[in-house]
Formats: sequence, structure tokens, C-alpha cells
Amino acid sequence: MQTPETNLILIVDDTPTNLEVLSEALTDAGFEVAVATSGESAIEQIEYDPPYLILLDIMMPGIDGFETCYRLKQNPQTKDIPVIFMTALSDTVDKVKGLSLGAVDYITKPFQQAEVLARVQIHVNLRNLNLALAEKNLRLEQEIKERAIAEAALQQLTHNLEQRVLERTQKLADALCTLEKAQIQLVQSEKLATLGQLVAGIAHEINNPVNFIHANLYYVSRYTQNLLELLKLYQNQLPKATPEILAKSKEIDLQYLLEDLPKILSSMEVGTERICDIIKSLRSFSRHDEAEVKVVDVHEGIESTLMILRRHLEAKPGQPKIQVFKEYGNLPKVECYPGKMNQVFMNVLSNAIDALTEAMDNYPSYVRSPMIRIMTEVLGSDRIAIRIADNGLGIPENIQKRIFDPFFTTKPAGKGTGLGMSISHQIITELHCGSLQCISQPGKGAEFVVEIPIQQPQLCHTGVVKQKFLSSPTQLDRKPAYQGLPIMVKADQK
Ligand SMILES: Nc1ncnc2c1ncn2[C@@H]1O[C@H](COP(=O)(O)OP(=O)(O)OP(=O)(O)O)[C@@H](O)[C@H]1O
Ligand SMILES: [Mg+2]
Repeated sequence: MQTPETNLILIVDDTPTNLEVLSEALTDAGFEVAVATSGESAIEQIEYDPPYLILLDIMMPGIDGFETCYRLKQNPQTKDIPVIFMTALSDTVDKVKGLSLGAVDYITKPFQQAEVLARVQIHVNLRNLNLALAEKNLRLEQEIKERAIAEAALQQLTHNLEQRVLERTQKLADALCTLEKAQIQLVQSEKLATLGQLVAGIAHEINNPVNFIHANLYYVSRYTQNLLELLKLYQNQLPKATPEILAKSKEIDLQYLLEDLPKILSSMEVGTERICDIIKSLRSFSRHDEAEVKVVDVHEGIESTLMILRRHLEAKPGQPKIQVFKEYGNLPKVECYPGKMNQVFMNVLSNAIDALTEAMDNYPSYVRSPMIRIMTEVLGSDRIAIRIADNGLGIPENIQKRIFDPFFTTKPAGKGTGLGMSISHQIITELHCGSLQCISQPGKGAEFVVEIPIQQPQLCHTGVVKQKFLSSPTQLDRKPAYQGLPIMVKADQK
């Protein structure tokens, strides 16, 4: 809506007397007045000097008042200028038509001056009010728009803030997780380092005297043999022994001694040999001096772990021994952290022994043949797999999802820390770019499959490169290894 700058009233009438009367009355009342004598000239005039209000006669030569009003209302520039028709007293049809075309009022001819002035004044006031209202509306709309923009900006700000809080929270959670992992690893590697040092220290200390005994046993054996041969020679050469010799022979049960002494010596040799083997295994297991990637025989690591766990595999009162079946493939030497790999074998094998012992403790009447099966093979050209399966109670599906979580354990307090599998998982996936999978069916057993590359990708253990090389477990369409083992516990007894 255009705001007029004057209080100009335009009178459109082709009758000069009317123009005169009205002009005078309005001028006297303080209005500025312009006149036009036809519809066409009025439209032209209005375009360059828009009035505040128009008094419009109906009957005019050329276009009449209705057409003039119609054209003014069609034009956005002029449509808001109030139009008052001037009509004959009796002309009701004209009045209605004029109002329906958009006129605001009508005045009747002959004019009553006071009425004309009153009506004009009312419409001028009305227009003033309308204009003020429109202005307020405009301001309000503007304000609403500004508020909407401010609100949107506020919302965006809130959203950004929430996003930042979320991101920060996530970063904090990640940092906490990394910290927890680092802490677990630190505690574990500290424990392991101490244990490794202790084991390596003891092994070293025992190694020298045992080697000394073992080496000298050979001479003891030979000297004893010589002495026995000499004794035999005496017996042959001097068959008549004195009563004193006979008494001593009887006292020491010479016959038995002669038979038993070589046996004792050879069993001592077997014993010291065994001690030497154990020491070798302990040293190979602890490998505390090997903090770097080495090219090793994985089977050696498995064997030394089994040697350490040997006592736990033996039969106990009322329980058969746990049999270990090895199906070793023709593996090449593999690049890995040997001490860490042994730690994984130790964790997986200890869990298998625990599972079998639990089955034997809880279901003694159904225990048949507790078994552990260890299979190794080469996968493709660059990876190896180590499968360790047991025919224990197996792992229910809901627990399988959690076994790699730190501190998750189903074992009684004090027995399990729940760290074995999470650390093993970390060692295999993060340190060796491999995978550690658990396959299990409750009641049938469990199998853990370790897959690692034969050669370590460079810098695998640094998180950055890890993602690139981290391999997903091979999907082998073969039966789990525990399926070859007899079922220990009947399904309805679980
Ligand atoms: N061979 C298996 N058979 C059945 N359950 C198993 C086997 N291996 C692991 N589990 C389950 O996974 C859980 C987590 O094993 P994990 O080695 O991480 O911890 P843990 O053995 O309980 O304690 P520790 O830290 O002393 O090893 C075990 O408590 C057990 O419930
Ligand atoms: Mg464990």
C-alpha cells in the first residue's frame, strides 16, 4: 500500500457546477482539491499524482464511473485509494454496483454539503487508520520474520552445541576406552614381564646344576658299570668269599642292588632329561627377551604351552585325563611376537581345560573322553590358522557375544579375571593384524580360530596402519573342529 504524501481529493465529474460546488466545500474544509472531467483523464492524473480519496461521478462521456473504478481497482498502484461514487438519489442499482466494484461509499445528488464533508472526513479518517494499521502490520510482519530468523539461528546454535557436546562426549568415551585398554595391557604386560623374568631367571638358575648333573650322570653310569664289572671279576676269581664279605653282601642285599643300580641310574638320566626339556619349554614360553617380531615355529610355542599345562591335563581321582590330539599342518615359520602368541595359546588352552574340568565336575556320569584338538594349516599363500577345540560344555550364544569384552567372566570370583580373551583378541587383531573367532554350540564344545599373516604388514601394531591391514576372518565352509570329538554331555543334561 502506497502512503500518499498530501490530503489531495480528486473530484471526477463532467458537470462543471458539481465540480465547483464540491471543490469549494472541500477547499474550505482544508483539503487540497484536484479535478478531472472524464474517466480517462482521471486515470492519467491519478498515476502521476495519486490523491488521498476520489469522488467519482457515474455518468460521464467516454468511460463511465464504473469502468474508471474497475480500472483503478485492477492497478496495484491505485487499488487502495478509496473511491466514493456520486449518484442520483433514487439509483439503488447504481449504488450496489458501485459498492461491488470496490467503492467505499456513495453520496447522492443533489449534494448536501455537510453530508459530503462528513462522509469524506470519515473515509479520510478510515484511510488514515488503514494506513497506520498496514504500517503496523508491516512492522509486525517484519518483527515476526526477524524473530523467526533469530529463532532459526538459535536452533542452529543449539543444534551445533548439542552436536559438539555429543562429539566431545564420544571423544571422551573413546579416550576412556583407550585408556582402559592401555591400563589393562599395562597391568597384564607388567605381570607377564615379571612372571617371564621370574620364569626365565629360575630356568636359568636350574639349568646349570641340572646340566651338570645330567652330564655327570653319564660318567656315574660308566664308573658304576666299571665297578660292577670289577666286582663280578672278584666274584669269579675269588669264588670263596670270607664270612665277613658274605655277611655284608647279605646286609646290603647285593643281588638286588646289582639289579637295581643300573635301573636307578637310567631313570635318573630320564628324569634329568625331562627337567632339561621342561627348562627349555619354560625359556621358550617366557621369551621375555623377545619384545620384537621374530620368525618362529608356531608349533614350538604350542608345545611349550602344553608342557607348562601338562599337570592340568593329567587324570585326577575320579576323572580321566584330558587327551590332546594334534593335527599339525606343514606350517612355514611365521613372523610374530612369540611371547605374546604363547600368551594367546595359554589363554585359549587354559579356557578349554577349565571348560572340560567344569563339565567333568558337574556331569560326572556323562564324562566320556575329555579332549582338546589342535589343528594348524596354511590358508591361501599368506596366512595360517590355528584351531583349538574342546568337547566341553560349549558357550551359549548370548555369552559368545561377550567373551571378548574386558572383565567378562562366568567363572567364580577369584578364579577368572575375564581378561584372557579380551587380551588375546587384542594381541591377535591389533598386534598381529589377524583375527580371533569363537565358534560354539552349547553341549557340543567350543573352538577358537586364530588367523594371522605369515609375514606381518609393516607397522601393524600402530593403530594407523592397522585398519588398512586388519583382516576379517576367513569364512571356511567346514565343520567346527569340536565336531570330530565325542560329545561329553547329553543335551538333556545341560
Ligand atoms: N573353551 C571354552 N568353553 C566354554 N566357555 C569358554 C571357553 N573359553 C572361554 N569361555 C567363556 O569366556 C569367558 C571369558 O574368558 P576369559 O578367558 O576372557 O576369562 P576367564 O577365563 O573367565 O578369566 P581369565 O582372565 O582368568 O582368563 C569365560 O569366563 C567363559 O565363560
Ligand atoms: Mg581365561
